[in-house]
Amino acid sequence: MKISATVLQQLEQLRATIRQHNYAYYVLDDPQLPDNAYDALMRELEAIEAKYPETITPDSPTQRVGAQPLTAFEQVQHALPMLSLNNAFTDQEVQEFHQRVCERLGTEQVEYIAEPKLDGLAISLRYEQGQLVTAATRGDGSTGEDVTHNVRTIKAIPLRLQGENYPEILEVRGEVIMPKAGFDKFNQQQLAKGEKPFANPRNAAAGSLRQLDPRATASRPLSFIAYGVGLVTGGTLANKHYDILQQLQHWGFPIAKDLQLSFGIGDCLNYYRATLERRAALPFDIDGVVYKVNALAQQEQLGFVSRAPRWAIAHKLPAEEALTTIQAIEIQVGRTGALTPVARLQPVSVGGVIVSNATLHNQDEIQRKDIRVGDTVVVRRAGDVIPEVLRVLLEKRPANTEIFALPPRCPVCDSEVEHEETIARCTGGLFCSAQRKQALQHFASRRAMDIEGLGEKLVEQLIDGNCIENLADIYTLPREQWAGLERMGDKSADRILRALEKSKQTSFARFLYALGIREVGESTARTLAQHFGSLEKLTAADTAALQLVPDVGEVVAQHIYRFFRQPHNREVIAQLQAAGVQWAENEVKTEQAQVLAGKTFVLTGTLNSMGRDAAKARLEALGAKVSGSVSKKTDYVVAGAEAGSKLEKAESLGVKVLDEAAFLVFLSEVEHVS
Ligand code: IVH
Repeated sequence: MKISATVLQQLEQLRATIRQHNYAYYVLDDPQLPDNAYDALMRELEAIEAKYPETITPDSPTQRVGAQPLTAFEQVQHALPMLSLNNAFTDQEVQEFHQRVCERLGTEQVEYIAEPKLDGLAISLRYEQGQLVTAATRGDGSTGEDVTHNVRTIKAIPLRLQGENYPEILEVRGEVIMPKAGFDKFNQQQLAKGEKPFANPRNAAAGSLRQLDPRATASRPLSFIAYGVGLVTGGTLANKHYDILQQLQHWGFPIAKDLQLSFGIGDCLNYYRATLERRAALPFDIDGVVYKVNALAQQEQLGFVSRAPRWAIAHKLPAEEALTTIQAIEIQVGRTGALTPVARLQPVSVGGVIVSNATLHNQDEIQRKDIRVGDTVVVRRAGDVIPEVLRVLLEKRPANTEIFALPPRCPVCDSEVEHEETIARCTGGLFCSAQRKQALQHFASRRAMDIEGLGEKLVEQLIDGNCIENLADIYTLPREQWAGLERMGDKSADRILRALEKSKQTSFARFLYALGIREVGESTARTLAQHFGSLEKLTAADTAALQLVPDVGEVVAQHIYRFFRQPHNREVIAQLQAAGVQWAENEVKTEQAQVLAGKTFVLTGTLNSMGRDAAKARLEALGAKVSGSVSKKTDYVVAGAEAGSKLEKAESLGVKVLDEAAFLVFLSEVEHVS
């Protein structure tokens, strides 16, 4: 069949549009289309190609997953060896590296590039005449495995180079990674399918590339970041590493966002510290940073020793995983009675911090990982996340270990334990001193009744010493009793009494939050307060009326309804009010303070938690001006999903940007203040 020029033109245009969107998405990190619109373009292309199969080229965006699974991997000889990096673990070792560089170059001034050291799998991509022909793993550095069929499925890797002026043969080197978000989701899917989860994103990336069937790899959330080049013929590249990376980006490769040009080793060390702080917030795992001499002429002058360049060094970050042993498994009882098993560990340094406890989540997790006292385990601490036990080294398990099981009764109050899905809960309620302690601590906390000075230690004494029976009793506890507590005295007692007095003047939302009703966090408490306006109305509401409140579903409505039906709870509330706890009724109608007067906001992208109009209304209620365009006068840009040019402009002008999560925190804080 003769294919018309119009069809060919349409095809080329469609492919170009898709490539352009891929580039915006993977390289610029600035998606221009919602996913479904992108999918529609792909479907359109597939439909035309199905009609005219002879037009299909191997670099068409539809051709990422090849037809046949392999039976084995072929070997590939690298045109230029893939080297490794020497490591430095201390500032001192980095200084020594710098000294050696200076001595060999005969200069004191060296320009470096500092880059993240990505924790994935090194790959070499060979492009001939702009087309991806081979992708190979590092292997032993000289010979690797041909993983072209799998690498083609990674959308962040161009099947053909963008732009012009690329060399005839270009080998691009970089790291295949599995971003943290994709890794978590992927592992959840593995668990749901009853399959084994991967230990970390690096293993997941490596395992995914070693699939014989490219359809399996295509379903894994892999990405790629370029950090250098191998063989280059039939064209020239820039003469500085930094500029080469920019060229690679131009030709269609994602490069690390946080590259830093450093004029001396001091800048590099600052970069290291800044990266350590940022580590948890990065979308992918890193295990260090790499410093590279920027000028290629200097790199050549420095050369190599064995398999590593003299012009680069990896400065390792403290490992986020470590081996240790489980000394005991203890049970913590939370505010709502949930029993959480906690592992007491032989203290070990993880991610630069000494860790001696790790959460074991629940019985199911313990069973799935088969964690026992005495086991040697891998613990992981990523950023601020609570350390967790990743897996057991079964080969190190001592004899006579016992399978761990949660006790049938609460270890604190001996009440029965009931099971709701994966959660085990003590049924003791406020009879359980552990729950009483937590409830009181929550009641007094800053965002609840804000009773300054009533912290963990005092709460423990009050409950263990049976000083109070219920929450309300703290308002009537006599001065002498406060003064008689450990490490208290007249002065401290007076201070607490003043704080208690001050806390009585509160808001309806805070009061509701302080009561500690299950599933009623700050934000729900606030909407409930706004919706009902008074405690009487809220208490009288049935579950149907409660479900009219935004964010309140069936379960939460049940919790609230039941809470107010319990005579004990009503009594405590009455007692609190009798003690003088009060707030202005009908908060809804009171004007909000104009705390954001004079501030200009721009909203861009899609907010998932509320419509743009709702966000605008809330900001305006606080006195802010909401404008449509970003300028130097803009104070904040709120960037939802798929934010585009406005976000870019904000970044270029240095305007503060709040993503959705930050915006919600911000709103809740300012609305709280007002
Ligand atoms: S450059 C000649 N840069 O680290 C230097 N490597 O120990 C060759 N890696 O196999 C490597 N991030 O897998 C370089 N920004 C980065 C890197 C990086 C991660 C890995 C790579 C390599 C290993 C070397």
